[in-house]
Amino acid sequence: MKNWTHIFTHLGEEREKYFNAVVPPVIQSSNFAFSDVDTFRNAFRDEAATHLYTRGNNPTTKILRDKIAAAEGTEDAMVMGSGAAAIASAVIANVKAGDHVVCVQGPYSWTYKLISKFLPRFGVDYTFVDGKDIEEIKSALRPETTVLMLESPNSLTYEIQDLKACAELAKENNIVSIIDNSYSSPYYQNPVDFGIDIVVHSGSKYLSGHSDIVFGVVCSTGEMIAKIIENEYMTLGPVLSPNDAWLALRGLRTLPTRLEKSSKTTAKVISWLKKQDAVDYVLYPFDEDFEQYELAKKQMRGAGGLFSVNFKAESIEKMEAFSNALADTFLMAVSWGGYESLQVPTCVFYNLHPGETPPLPFTFVRYYIGLEEGDYIIEKFEKALKILQK
Ligand SMILES: Cc1ncc(COP(=O)(O)O)c(C=O)c1O
Repeated sequence: MKNWTHIFTHLGEEREKYFNAVVPPVIQSSNFAFSDVDTFRNAFRDEAATHLYTRGNNPTTKILRDKIAAAEGTEDAMVMGSGAAAIASAVIANVKAGDHVVCVQGPYSWTYKLISKFLPRFGVDYTFVDGKDIEEIKSALRPETTVLMLESPNSLTYEIQDLKACAELAKENNIVSIIDNSYSSPYYQNPVDFGIDIVVHSGSKYLSGHSDIVFGVVCSTGEMIAKIIENEYMTLGPVLSPNDAWLALRGLRTLPTRLEKSSKTTAKVISWLKKQDAVDYVLYPFDEDFEQYELAKKQMRGAGGLFSVNFKAESIEKMEAFSNALADTFLMAVSWGGYESLQVPTCVFYNLHPGETPPLPFTFVRYYIGLEEGDYIIEKFEKALKILQK
């Protein structure tokens, strides 16, 4: 059991260096100066370990890196300007022309674009597989496969991969396994405990927790993080500003409290929703009726506030009216993990681009429950559901 209090409250903080201030300062400086040639020369030797320039290392950002690495149980972590940058850096660091990537189907949209559109421009091939089926993953592997990209659970329909089986398969075949762990956050799932090599996050979600910054994280061995910093990170430069690192640190301190509250409210709301006539089904990894419930319980310590519902509604107009009626409680916005509840009704994707039919029915809605009280949310649902019952 990790000492979360120590990690989020004290680890990485050297208060005596900044007047014993309880909260670390934002070192909002791009540049660091040297008093003599020898120390200046030394900084050039290892930019990531000394203070030369903020793209390489910054004292505020370093506290955030240390805390997240400890939370994931990895030797090191690098923080970046977005989750998309973190995912791209981790994947690109482990492929070259002629290689092949196996990725679970239906990943986050920009992971999909990275693998199916961006990498092929540089001679890297790919296969998408049903991540629930280890045999399908196995049969997609080729001698030139170098990366197995996982997302467990995903953030819409919550498919889960058996992390231990995937990690073993990757190791047997000398493949680097990478997982997007944004759904669970390190508080609810530590993939390295099952043998996964690299863990990436959209820190814009639970880690920062207030919908006010965009940032990303890559966690792995010291060797792997050094390789990513020296190549993809320093070349492409997706730096996180010290000010945003400071906001991330502030959010991170309350990660356990926020997640526990959100999970508790979500369980209560789901239990109520499942009894409503207008609800067809609910998807949530920690719901007993979820297809992969047993595996979820084995790998995850909790499931947070993100879940989906399919309603019984005969027309798109009814779904739109129902969703609009909830818009003051469940804000219509995409990036979950903050203090506020959200909804993404699939009907928004209907009539979006001519000739395109979305894969999910217009009756499907993804919800995120923030820090509001369960009774308040249920009361709002109760009123809005009358629209579907008319
Ligand atoms: C599951 C998942 N992974 C990665 C990302 C990308 O993160 P960011 O928006 O911080 O670039 C997102 C963003 O929505 C996401 O939902």
